[in-house]
Amino acid sequence: MTLDTQSLNKDRQDLSKLDEIWLFGYGSLIYKVDFRFIRSEKAHILGYERRFWQGSHDHRGIPEKPGRVLTLVEAEGVRCGGIAFQVSHDVFDHLDHREKNGYLRYETVLHLDSGREVKGLVYTADADNDAYLGEASIAELAHQIYECTGPSGPNREYVYDLAAALRANGEIDEHVFAIERALLVMENT
Ligand code: BEZ
Repeated sequence: MTLDTQSLNKDRQDLSKLDEIWLFGYGSLIYKVDFRFIRSEKAHILGYERRFWQGSHDHRGIPEKPGRVLTLVEAEGVRCGGIAFQVSHDVFDHLDHREKNGYLRYETVLHLDSGREVKGLVYTADADNDAYLGEASIAELAHQIYECTGPSGPNREYVYDLAAALRANGEIDEHVFAIERALLVMENT
């Protein structure tokens, strides 16, 4: 599949049919909120977990030396906590461009902390996209992240900013926190 998913996302959903448009953020959308939203609240989705398995050629790395960023992978019996944003359809021009490196918008059910269940959208990068890097050990992930930087800054800042945002929301994510710990050890040696 093409690396640039911007044009694919444009026609994926008919947003005009929705009474409310909700977007689930689980990664950079949690700590880099550079889009307008109507309201937000904590939420989770079921059956997926965060993994640093997607390559970043345009934000946290460069084509010759891609960094690592998040995607969601399916896993039974798990929940992934994040933030649900109620948005207007016009934010997607910006977000589809920002997340064009392999991410597609999918529909999913968001469980809002207020108790409501709403249909929403989530960006995920599947294993068949050209930027996908796949599974690696925590040590390998941390080494690659430590070494990489791109137009949006050092790859490690993505991990630190995300970990801080998750903690601020009361979310525990051992995958993210283990990479953060490994990076901090490298910073201090
Ligand atoms: C998110 O924070 O939801 C997100 C992560 C990676 C790509 C696009 C969105």
